[in-house]
Amino acid sequence: MAQYDVIVIGSGPGGYVAAIRCAQLGLKTACVEGRETLGGTCLNVGCIPSKAMLHATHQLHEAEHNFAKMGLKGKSPSVDWKQMLTYKDETIEANTKGIEFLFKKNKIDWLKGWGSVPQAGKVKVGDDTHDAKNIIIASGSEASSLPGVEIDEKVVVTSTGALELPKIPKKMIVIGAGVIGLELGSVYSRLGTEVEVIEFLDTITPGMDGEVQKTFQKILQKQGLSFTLGAAVQKVDASKTKAKVTYKLRKDDSEQTLDADVVLVSTGRRPFTDGLGLDALGIEMSQRGQIKTDAHWQTNVKGVYAIGDCIDGPMLAHKAEDEGMACAEVIAGKAGHVNYGVIPGVIYTHPEVANVGHTEEELKEAGRNYKAGKFSFMGNGRAKANFAADGFVKILADKDTDRILGAHIIGPMAGDLIHEICVAMEFGASAEDLALTCHAHPTYSEAVREAALACGDGPIHM
Ligand code: NAI
Repeated sequence: MAQYDVIVIGSGPGGYVAAIRCAQLGLKTACVEGRETLGGTCLNVGCIPSKAMLHATHQLHEAEHNFAKMGLKGKSPSVDWKQMLTYKDETIEANTKGIEFLFKKNKIDWLKGWGSVPQAGKVKVGDDTHDAKNIIIASGSEASSLPGVEIDEKVVVTSTGALELPKIPKKMIVIGAGVIGLELGSVYSRLGTEVEVIEFLDTITPGMDGEVQKTFQKILQKQGLSFTLGAAVQKVDASKTKAKVTYKLRKDDSEQTLDADVVLVSTGRRPFTDGLGLDALGIEMSQRGQIKTDAHWQTNVKGVYAIGDCIDGPMLAHKAEDEGMACAEVIAGKAGHVNYGVIPGVIYTHPEVANVGHTEEELKEAGRNYKAGKFSFMGNGRAKANFAADGFVKILADKDTDRILGAHIIGPMAGDLIHEICVAMEFGASAEDLALTCHAHPTYSEAVREAALACGDGPIHM
C-alpha cells in the first residue's frame, strides 16, 4: 500500500479543498469517499442542486410576474418537471466531474469506499489499510429529524428527498423556518405548491438580524408562503401518499393538525461520524456529537485532524473550505488561519439574504456603542429597473471608531454584495472607507455604499 503524507476522509467542500491544498503544498495525498461521486452533500444533494432548482423556478417567477411589464408578451412557460430534474442532475454531474478532474490534475488518489481510522497513522477502506502521517476527518453532517417523525424520503423528506420528488406536490408542510426550509419552500411555492412553514420559535431564521427577519417574512408571505410560528411539531403520521402533522402552539398549548402531500423536515443537521471508529480511537467528542479540536484543527490524537460540519461552528460549505485550506497549511508547516469573525451567511431565496459579523441584537446585548446605517433598495435605480427593489442594506459600525462590526442585506444579489463588506472587515475598515470608495453606477452595490454613507453624513438617494 502507498504511504501518504495526508489522507482526507470525505470529499465535500471541506475535504476536497483540504486534499487539493495538501497536494499543492507538495504532500502526497489521498481522499476517501464512499459515494459514487465526489463533492459530498453540498455538490450531490445540497447547495448545488438546490441552487439549480432556485434558479430555474426564479426564471419561471420572472416570466409569470415581470415579463409582460417589460413588453415581453406571450404564453408563460409551463413546467416540464422531468426536464427540470434532469437540468439539476446535469448541474450536479458537471460539478462532481470537475472535482474528479482537479484530483487528477493534482495527483490526488481517490480511495473509493467508506473509511475508518483503526489507529493514528492508518486509514482502512474496505479490506485495505493505508498508511498516512496525517489524517483529516471531513465527514460532514446529516439531517437531524425530530422524535415522532420518521423520514421515508418519499412523503416525509429531508432536503435530499425534496430534490427528487416524483411530482410537484399540491401541499407541502415545511418543519423549521431555517435556511433549508425557506430555500426549498420557495422552490415549491414558485412551482405552485401551497407551502406552510411551521416554526418552533416566534421568528423565522433564528439568530439573524431582527429587522431582516421581519422584512424577510413579509416578502415570503407576499410570495405565497404561510407561516405558523411558535409551534412545536409533535409527530408526523404518514401513509404512502399523505401525511398529517401534529403540532402544539406554544402560547396556549393547544394541539393542531395539518395535512399535506409532502412534509419537509428541515430542523437542522448533526455531525456525521458513524463508522469512523472514533470511539475506539479515543477521540474526544462534544456533547453535541462534534469532534473536538484545538485551534489548529488537531484532535486529542496526534496527527488526526478534523474540519467542517463535524466540528464546532456554523455548518457552512465555505467555512469548511477555509478550514480545509488552513488545516493543510498547518500540516505543511505553515500558518493556517481562519477568521471566524468574518464568515458570511447567505440564504439563496429571492431576494437573497446575507449577513456577516454581529447583529444589532448581539451588539445591544453586549452593551456596544454602535451606529446603524441603512439604505433601502427603493433608492437604487438598478434595483427599481429590475423589479428588485424589496429589501435593504444595513451596516453596523462602532460609534467611536467607525469600524464596521457587521452587515445585513436583504435584496438582489445580497449573497454577492456581502463580500465587499467581508473584505472591508478583514482589513479592519471603517464605514467611511466604504463610503469613500467609488462604486460604479448603476449597480446594486451602490446600495452598500449608501448604507456606509448612512453611517456618516447620510445617504444621497434617500
Ligand atoms: P436551521 O438550523 O437553519 O433551521 C432549523 C429550524 O427548525 C430552526 O428555526 C428551529 O427553530 C426549527 N425547529 C427545530 N425543531 C422544531 C420543531 N419541533 N418544530 C418546529 N420547528 C422546529 O436548519 P436547516 O434549515 O435544516 O439547515 C441545516 C444546516 O444546513 C444549517 O446549519 C444551515 O446553515 C446549512 N445550510 C446552509 C445553506 C446555505 O448556506 N444557504 C443551505 C442549506 C443548508
